[in-house]
Amino acid sequence: MSVPTAVLPALPHWETTPDDLRAAVREVKAALRARIAASGRPVEEVFAVVEQRVAAQVAEIAAESERGEPVWPVIDYADIAAGTVSPELLAKLQRRGCAVIRGHFPREQALEWDAAIVDYVERNRFFETYRGPGDDFFGTVGSKPEIYPIYWSPAQMQARQSERMARVQAFLNGRWRHESEGVTWFEPDRDCLYPDRIRRRPPGADSAGLGTHLDPGTLDLWMTRANQAAFRHLFDGTVEQYDPWDAAHRTAGPQYPGSTMTSVFRTFQGWTALSDMDHDQGVLHTVPIPEAMAYLMLRPLLADVPEDDMCGVTVGKVFPANEQWHPLLMNAVTGIPDVRAGDSVWWHCDMVHGVAPVTDQKGWGNVMYIPAAPWCPRNADYAVQVREALRSGASPSDFPAEHYERTWDGRFGVDDLSAVGRRGLGL
Ligand SMILES: [Fe+2]
Repeated sequence: MSVPTAVLPALPHWETTPDDLRAAVREVKAALRARIAASGRPVEEVFAVVEQRVAAQVAEIAAESERGEPVWPVIDYADIAAGTVSPELLAKLQRRGCAVIRGHFPREQALEWDAAIVDYVERNRFFETYRGPGDDFFGTVGSKPEIYPIYWSPAQMQARQSERMARVQAFLNGRWRHESEGVTWFEPDRDCLYPDRIRRRPPGADSAGLGTHLDPGTLDLWMTRANQAAFRHLFDGTVEQYDPWDAAHRTAGPQYPGSTMTSVFRTFQGWTALSDMDHDQGVLHTVPIPEAMAYLMLRPLLADVPEDDMCGVTVGKVFPANEQWHPLLMNAVTGIPDVRAGDSVWWHCDMVHGVAPVTDQKGWGNVMYIPAAPWCPRNADYAVQVREALRSGASPSDFPAEHYERTWDGRFGVDDLSAVGRRGLGL
């Protein structure tokens, strides 16, 4: 029996980063626990419900792996274009929260883009002028970067503003519930054009990879009014109704700033492969369980976590997922299958992900980061900044202010925008 939400104790909230983080963590944790308890079950019981559901998924994934079945859904672009993706595959996408889109672009097209990017950076003497990593998150690479802080090459923009990209983004946005409570939280058929970087990792490379983490926010996930509403079912006794595909309250609220923050709401994070990559060459891994977010959000409220600690989550750092606090989830970490140039890879914005280490990499490991970021108030705000950055060739405001391309020859210009590109920038 659930208690009406209105009679539950209200939660304190901070619409900007609290001055005293530890005090705020103590306060919000106590309030969340009190609210959950008042709804009829203590937090331990609510967490146990979530743990059981997630454990069932972990077991399912282990069984699939053991049988040699693909854990990641693989969807043919042609089926998305024709509207013929099978109900079974759609259900699997919903359950796993991630997918590879085969043949999103013709392989030749992707290889051409890869070569065009090399030409663009070499022509503009990028390697001679490169000043080292501009942020701490990817700051482990050597003098020649693997992550190129390059945003405005014609190749990247052609992919972002292509009909094929728009079609896949609309398909992926459509997995979410975008209307409820009389509000249209986002427009599934219109994406906001989000410029991000590229990665080019050469043959023979050694890479330590990237630890498992998630990107939707940090302490603001528990502390802002909008996020408390977005995760309401976890805190008001209705945890069984928690739906990781519900966009309610996720597309307009404030975020706490940080070096790893993304200003936009993304239904899926994603990249497009510009080279062939085998599954054992330091590729992306996820915990392919969208419901795991409930586990990650409730875990810090248990008694074994220090009162002023959110399982290591704090502002200005990525949200870590690890053996210490989330051993159950770590059992389900699963890599992508082999991909070819022109395939794309997508994962739900709340999902735990990381990059496996590799030594002496075989072949290239090249990707363009392009997410699905549907039009909504938050993304429309950011589009204003993107338009400005496109005009001047600046680094977009979500990224370090490196601004390599301002004077570069052959940069993509406003006049080169297609109808999809203009729509994605609000022009
Ligand atoms: Fe990430």
